[in-house]
Amino acid sequence: MARDRTQGQLAIHNEATLPPQEIIDLFKITFNDELYQSDERFEQLLKEIKSVKSDLYNRDYIEAFSSDPKRVAYCCRWSPPRATSYGSLLSHLEPVLNVIQCHDGADQNVLCVGGGAGSEFVSIASMFTTSRELTSKYHVKEIDGDDMVKKSTLNLHLVDIANWRTIIKRLNDSIDEKWLYNNESDFFKVKFTENDILKMNETELDLPNLNLITLLFTTNELFSEHKAESIRFFQKMNRFCSSGCYLLIAESAGSFSHITVGTKKFPIQFLIDTILVGKKGQEDDGAWEIVDQNDSIWYRGDLKLDYPIKLENMRFFYRLYKKK
Ligand SMILES: C[S@@+](CC[C@H](N)C(=O)[O-])C[C@H]1O[C@@H](n2cnc3c(N)ncnc32)[C@H](O)[C@@H]1O
Repeated sequence: MARDRTQGQLAIHNEATLPPQEIIDLFKITFNDELYQSDERFEQLLKEIKSVKSDLYNRDYIEAFSSDPKRVAYCCRWSPPRATSYGSLLSHLEPVLNVIQCHDGADQNVLCVGGGAGSEFVSIASMFTTSRELTSKYHVKEIDGDDMVKKSTLNLHLVDIANWRTIIKRLNDSIDEKWLYNNESDFFKVKFTENDILKMNETELDLPNLNLITLLFTTNELFSEHKAESIRFFQKMNRFCSSGCYLLIAESAGSFSHITVGTKKFPIQFLIDTILVGKKGQEDDGAWEIVDQNDSIWYRGDLKLDYPIKLENMRFFYRLYKKK
């Protein structure tokens, strides 16, 4: 079911997520102290943002996420617009939406690689929240003569080499307080692991039991730091993920995502396609099939959103693979 690759723009608001302003508000509530407490505090935050921006420009990713103030700065500046974009992207991809909202009634396991900064976490939480609002209204089943709501659990594993623990905890507290009522948080289980994904084995990552893996704006970092180990990580997914598992990769569209192999430079998705689905002309040999893709898609946010820092639009490529 390969879709149109020239489709250019994602919806500002996909109904499967909470409205973009509510997503942004979650960041405003969580980082109220840094954003709104005083002019001095906000100025300090802007200074940290500048410093992270310069690290990212120099591709010094370890330095960019090396302290709590820098991680808070990243989260306040980059994660809100990404959370709204990812909400729209993840809901636009039906198989991904089905996993996050547990449509087949079974518990679902999702791994977010490089997911410490909170954007995919918040977007997924927002999609889970809307599904539970519907569940309590409509999905009442009769079990042993009683009307019961059959609820499945979404297990979310965020793995990141930097220590985003405090930030994930702060976001999670806001999600529990503002979005997940009626003990719904019991069914939205979040685990954060601080580790290098390239050094973790299939058991630590629970690869055989995963329904979805996301690599959002992280693949470039992996390959720019450790090319050979990154290739081995993808080969590990080839070997240990179970049939039916989905893998979603999104990365900046354009030359920033080009990779040099030998003397040649080419888009990183070509290399990933080769590892996952096979060489051109031999795609049937690969462990995965591409079920959806786009080489350049925009998410342009609502200009009326209220937030004290500019919310950037995003242009990226994505690939959704399914394990054969
Ligand atoms: C550009 S940020 C993207 C964050 C988030 N996925 C988003 O889209 O907003 C890349 C993330 O990948 C993490 N990362 C880089 N190398 C990693 C590795 N080897 N193992 C785990 N995480 C890694 C970084 O610490 C950072 O949080």
